[in-house]
Amino acid sequence: MSDKKLWAGRFAEPTDAFVEAFTASVEFDQRLAPYDIQGSIAHATMLARQGILSEQERDDIVDGLLRILARIEAGQFRWSVALEDVHMNIEAALTEDIGIAGKKLHTGRSRNDQVATDVRLWLRAELAEIRIAIRRLQHALLDLAEREAETVMPGFTHLQTAQPVTFGHHMMAWFEMLDRDHDRMADCAVRVNVMPLGAAALAGTTYPIDRRYTAELMAFDHPAENSLDAVSDRDFAIEFAAAASILMMHLSRMSEELILWSSAQFHFVTLSDSFCTGSSIMPQKKNPDVPELIRGKSGRVFGHLMALLTLMKSQPLAYNKDNQEDKEPLFDAVDNIKGSLKVFAAMIPAISCDRDAMRLATMRGFATATDLADYLVRKGIPFRDAHEVVGKSVAYCVQKGCDLADLELAELQRFSPAIGADVFEFLTLEGSVAARDHIGGTAPAQVRAAIGRARLRIA
Ligand code: ARG
Repeated sequence: MSDKKLWAGRFAEPTDAFVEAFTASVEFDQRLAPYDIQGSIAHATMLARQGILSEQERDDIVDGLLRILARIEAGQFRWSVALEDVHMNIEAALTEDIGIAGKKLHTGRSRNDQVATDVRLWLRAELAEIRIAIRRLQHALLDLAEREAETVMPGFTHLQTAQPVTFGHHMMAWFEMLDRDHDRMADCAVRVNVMPLGAAALAGTTYPIDRRYTAELMAFDHPAENSLDAVSDRDFAIEFAAAASILMMHLSRMSEELILWSSAQFHFVTLSDSFCTGSSIMPQKKNPDVPELIRGKSGRVFGHLMALLTLMKSQPLAYNKDNQEDKEPLFDAVDNIKGSLKVFAAMIPAISCDRDAMRLATMRGFATATDLADYLVRKGIPFRDAHEVVGKSVAYCVQKGCDLADLELAELQRFSPAIGADVFEFLTLEGSVAARDHIGGTAPAQVRAAIGRARLRIA
C-alpha cells in the first residue's frame, strides 16, 4: 500500500519525519477501525441511494471495506504512521484494493465528522458493556447481602462506632451507589447517540445527502442539528468521563472498606487468596492488592476527566486538532472501569464474613446507646433528657470497662428510675437492628424486602 498522503496536493515539501510521528494518531485510534468501517459503509450506502455513487461503486466499497475489516481482525493489516490516522489508513487500503471507487468514498464528508461519528459509535458500544458489567457487580452484591442479611456489624460515623447495622444493609448501600452509576451511564448514552456525519468539515456539504437515512443505518437516534457543533462537540466525552469518575470514586470507597475490614485489627472479612498477594519479605502478609489497585485507579480516571475538560476549555468552533487528544483518556478510562468492575464482581462472592468478629466489634463502643435513649423516650422522658441520662451511663461504663448491656438493672436505674427490666431487650444487637423496621432501615426484614425490590428493578 502506498504511504502517499491523501492531502498532499497543495504541499511542496514532505512532512518533517518527527512532525509526522508527532501528529499521527494511528497508534491509538486504530482501535476505532470497526466503527470507522461501519460509518463508511453507512455513508457509501446513503451516497448510492442519493445517486451520488453508482450501485456498483457502493458494492465495491462495501466489499472492499469488509475485506479490510477481516484483515484488521486477523492482525494482517499494516498500519502506516505516514498515513496519520485510522481513517486515512483504511481509505488508502481501500483505494489500493478497489481502485477509483475507493477515492470516491470521501465524497460529502470530512475526517472531522468521520472521527466524531467513530468515537460516538465506539462509546455507545462500550457504554452497553459497562452497563452490563455494573449490573453483574450489583447482582453479586445482592447475593452477598442476602447471605448476610442478619449479620450484625458496627455502623460507623466519623469511623467511630455509631449504631449496629447489618452487613446486608451495608452491601445494599453499595448496591444503591452502583445503581445511580448505571443510570448515569444510561443517561450519557442518550447524548452519545446523536450522529455528526454529514456535518463534513464544519459547514455541511453541497451534495444532496440524506442524514436521516445514514443515522437510521447506524441506529443513531437522529442527526446532530448543527454542523459546527457536530464536529466540535466533545461534551459527551466529558460527561462520560464524569460518570466514570463517579463510578471509580464509589469503587474506591468500597475498596477502602474492604481493605480496612480485612486487616487483622478489624477482621470482619477475609478476601479470597486469589485477590491478594504476599510480601517478598514478610512471610505473614496477605495484602488486599485488588481493592488497593482499584482505589488507586480512581486517580487516573479523575485525571482523564480533568484532561478532557481542559482539552475543550476555550476551544473556538469548529474542529481543532486538539480534539485528537480526546481518545487516549477515553480509551484508558473505559479499559480501567471495565477491568475494575470485572474484578470487583468476581471478588464479592468470594468474601467470607467473620460474624463473631463483627459481633464483638459491635459490642465495643456503645452501639446501642441510642436504643437506650429511644427506650427512655418511650417511657415518657423528653429526648434531650434521655440523651443526658445515657451519656452519663456510658461514662460510667467507660470507667468500669464494660458495655451498657453488662450493667445490672439496679445500676442502670441509678441514672433513671424510668428504666425497667424490659430494657435489656432493647440493648441487644438483634433488638437494635430489628427495631429499625421501615423502608431504608437496617432491620433484616427490611433488608430482605429491599433486596427483593432491587432484584425486580434490575431484572
Ligand atoms: N485524527 C484526527 C482526530 O482524531 C481525525 C480528524 C482530523 N481532521 C483534521 N482536519 N486534521 O481528531
